[in-house]
Amino acid sequence: MNLKDEYIKFFVSKGHKQIPSAPVVPENDPSVLFNTAGMQPLIPYLMGEEHPYGKRLVDYQKCIRTNDLDSIGDKTHHTFFEMLGNWSLGDYFKKESIGYSIEFLTQVLHIPLNKLAVTVFKGNDMIGPDKESAEAWISHGIKKERIAYMGEEDNWWPNMENIGPCGSDTEIFYFSSEEEVPEVFDPEDDRWVEIWNNVFMEYNHNEDGTFTLLPKKNVDTGMGYERVVAILEGVSDNYKSSVWKSIIDTICRVSNRSYEGNEESIRIIADHIRTSVFIAADKSGIKPSNTDQGYILRRLIRRSIRHAKKLGIDIESDWDKEIALSVIEEYSKYYSELEENKDVVLEVLKSEKIKFNRTLEKGLREFEKIMRKLDEDTLCKEDAFRLYDTYGFPIELTVELAGERGRSVDIKGFKEKFKAHQELSRTQSKGKFKGGLAGGGEMETKYHTATHLLNAALRKVVGSGVHQKGSNITSERMRFDFSCDHKLSEEEKEQVEELVNKWISEKIDVLKEEMPKEEAIKSGAECMFIEKYPDIVTVYSIGDFSRELCGGPHVKNTGELGTFKIIKEEASSAGVRRIKAVLSDE
Ligand code: ALA
Repeated sequence: MNLKDEYIKFFVSKGHKQIPSAPVVPENDPSVLFNTAGMQPLIPYLMGEEHPYGKRLVDYQKCIRTNDLDSIGDKTHHTFFEMLGNWSLGDYFKKESIGYSIEFLTQVLHIPLNKLAVTVFKGNDMIGPDKESAEAWISHGIKKERIAYMGEEDNWWPNMENIGPCGSDTEIFYFSSEEEVPEVFDPEDDRWVEIWNNVFMEYNHNEDGTFTLLPKKNVDTGMGYERVVAILEGVSDNYKSSVWKSIIDTICRVSNRSYEGNEESIRIIADHIRTSVFIAADKSGIKPSNTDQGYILRRLIRRSIRHAKKLGIDIESDWDKEIALSVIEEYSKYYSELEENKDVVLEVLKSEKIKFNRTLEKGLREFEKIMRKLDEDTLCKEDAFRLYDTYGFPIELTVELAGERGRSVDIKGFKEKFKAHQELSRTQSKGKFKGGLAGGGEMETKYHTATHLLNAALRKVVGSGVHQKGSNITSERMRFDFSCDHKLSEEEKEQVEELVNKWISEKIDVLKEEMPKEEAIKSGAECMFIEKYPDIVTVYSIGDFSRELCGGPHVKNTGELGTFKIIKEEASSAGVRRIKAVLSDE
């Protein structure tokens, strides 16, 4: 039995449509780095928009949570996980939702009713106790003693602070021990583990702090796949379940170590490489860097390299590739992007490894030096920052190394320094962005419009998988980076050049419109970083082939551009190609 397949099958049989897992990097939500729950990509629909698949949905969603990176290495934490979820968008509510949950758990997974218990919302000064859920549980055979009434800290999702759709929830617990099941459910007894959360989303928490009713009453449920598989298989260490078997076996093989005795490093490598594979294969094209998602990716890869070293793995060997391949093999049936972007994934891992390996040894020596000189217990923020800045040591690596010697690190001080440093580089790159892209000179303006034509031509000739990844303009030339997995052939280059010149010769007007960001995206406008734009955006369109969210400036008519010529096409980074081109009066 496969839990994922059974879950989908069950809810499909109850009239739900399966929707695909959204990318791990949210497409239109700059408030989070990664999807952290199945409902995240569905927020507009929970807020009232009609979903194209209807009112009953089911899926398995890729999620990443990095708030407790330090806990990875124990039996239960992972950064990546899959969340099984079913939704009612203004269709059924508490009674039916609870009925489906009970039926799935007892009839499909064959969990005895006696091993289940639930929590329900006890109410607060705003909203009364959730009697409806409690009654529904009782009608399905859950005894009164197995229902615990809890406050908003436990039974309100996501919490009272978050802005957006929310509501009370009822959580389902499973008695994971072989011992006799106690008659009365005590949520503090950790033999009871939470397996499923049914949220009844009735409210919107507004920016001004008030709660208003949503246009419809929704159900949002979430079941953590790896946790429930571990429970069903009766293992207390999640990493011993079938979910991890092939990945852990591969790590044991490449390190020539057994899992027993090396659990921590093996779990960290397994978790971090798995998450890195999913980030690197994601549609968003994230690469290791020093900011945002790219920095998470970098930290995950670097920490796994450090642990591989600890296990005595020869870092230069293909250990990382082999582990990544076992992740891809394990998951590609469900996530086709892993196979499709396999080369990108392997390249990301390899180049980050080469980069880190160059400084790791030196960094470790520097760390030893710091340790020898250290009088007190805590490594200071200056040293932690130097290890990061000069040797590329993510903070948790420094913390871990220090911890192994019974020392701590001034993490707070480091974070302050890190933040100040990031703000500085952001300001610097903003300055560049302004000067490079939006330089208002006549030639820069022409190049800017040519960038849009080139983007559209590449999408027509090479494929709609092409997206802009960056650009840089001077009065002499333009540089354009785009996602593409191959070197352009002579023929492709010629076709692109011809198409751009055709559009120039057709003297087409460049249109400028202002509209809400959401509408612009829906109308199919291309854009590079949606979160960088304000709520009302400018969309420039040329003919029916180019439509881009953009700050301008642009020429009024393509006829002003002259002749377009590609002078170079080369690799920029993994999966990204770079074109340099010029405009001339010839
Ligand atoms: N959105 C709910 C959760 O993540 C179901 O627990």
